[in-house]
Amino acid sequence: MVREQEWQPAGVDIDTPSGSRIYDYALGGAHNFAADRAAAEAFFAAYPDAPLVARSNRAFLQRSVRYCAHQGIKQFLDLGSGIPTVGNVHEIAQRLVPAARVVYVDNEPVAVAHTREIIADLPYTAIVDADMRDAETVLGAPETRELIDFDQPLALMMVAVLHYVSDEDDITGILARYRSVLAPGSVLVVSHTTEDPRPEIEAVIQRVFKETGTPVIHRDRAEVAALLDGLELVEPGVVWTPQWRPDDDTDPLFAEPERSATFAAVGRVPSIL
Ligand SMILES: C[S@@+](CC[C@H](N)C(=O)[O-])C[C@H]1O[C@@H](n2cnc3c(N)ncnc32)[C@H](O)[C@@H]1O
Repeated sequence: MVREQEWQPAGVDIDTPSGSRIYDYALGGAHNFAADRAAAEAFFAAYPDAPLVARSNRAFLQRSVRYCAHQGIKQFLDLGSGIPTVGNVHEIAQRLVPAARVVYVDNEPVAVAHTREIIADLPYTAIVDADMRDAETVLGAPETRELIDFDQPLALMMVAVLHYVSDEDDITGILARYRSVLAPGSVLVVSHTTEDPRPEIEAVIQRVFKETGTPVIHRDRAEVAALLDGLELVEPGVVWTPQWRPDDDTDPLFAEPERSATFAAVGRVPSIL
């Protein structure tokens, strides 16, 4: 098959839409293929809020990185980091803390290849091509071991990725394994989509993500809160993404936060007294 773009990594299936590339398209990114755009346009026609939901989530991610950097956190492990777009974790973190360490993790070939390309010359930034459900591989990867000091506070980012991790995957066990390596003062940053109250929209969301081969699991506020059990919830707790410490006007759903259909929360590993 003829390569659509220079950046198309070998072996990527461009005929099956991918959640990662639909999200990239929703954010205005260019790393997506015809099948992704067709699926995305059909999705947006049925669910016009979808691009706003994506932008709102991305705005939360960026605010949370700024928050972590202002708290003195100098290292970030970003699981399900996605296809790089404007305002990536390393750009925000390293603007505030120039030597901040950032390790990205994704298992989508375009996300991995494009990340690798844009960070190629950066000394403190790496990408691990791995399934984030396999915590041993992520934590033991040479890039992680080289850049992350687990004796120091770390921001563990799980932004818009846990909806791909089911109870059958043992989400509780996976989170516990990651939690076990976090030093006091570390934080877990989470955003998580929730069920749309309109059954017809919910059906469209489920159908589109089923087509991508990565079905989406919605969790309610209590279930999202449970993902942060044992951590000190940073104010304002588990809220709609636009409500999590808004400090600028970049969130398109600021005035109607529940339309984000996504909960956000940050939990801190308590200090040992
Ligand atoms: C919706 S995007 C979110 C990107 C970024 N975290 C953000 O919020 O802007 C979800 C990303 O998670 C990745 N992903 C999904 N399941 C994964 C898994 N099991 N391991 C690693 N990455 C995964 C997808 O490939 C995609 O790039």
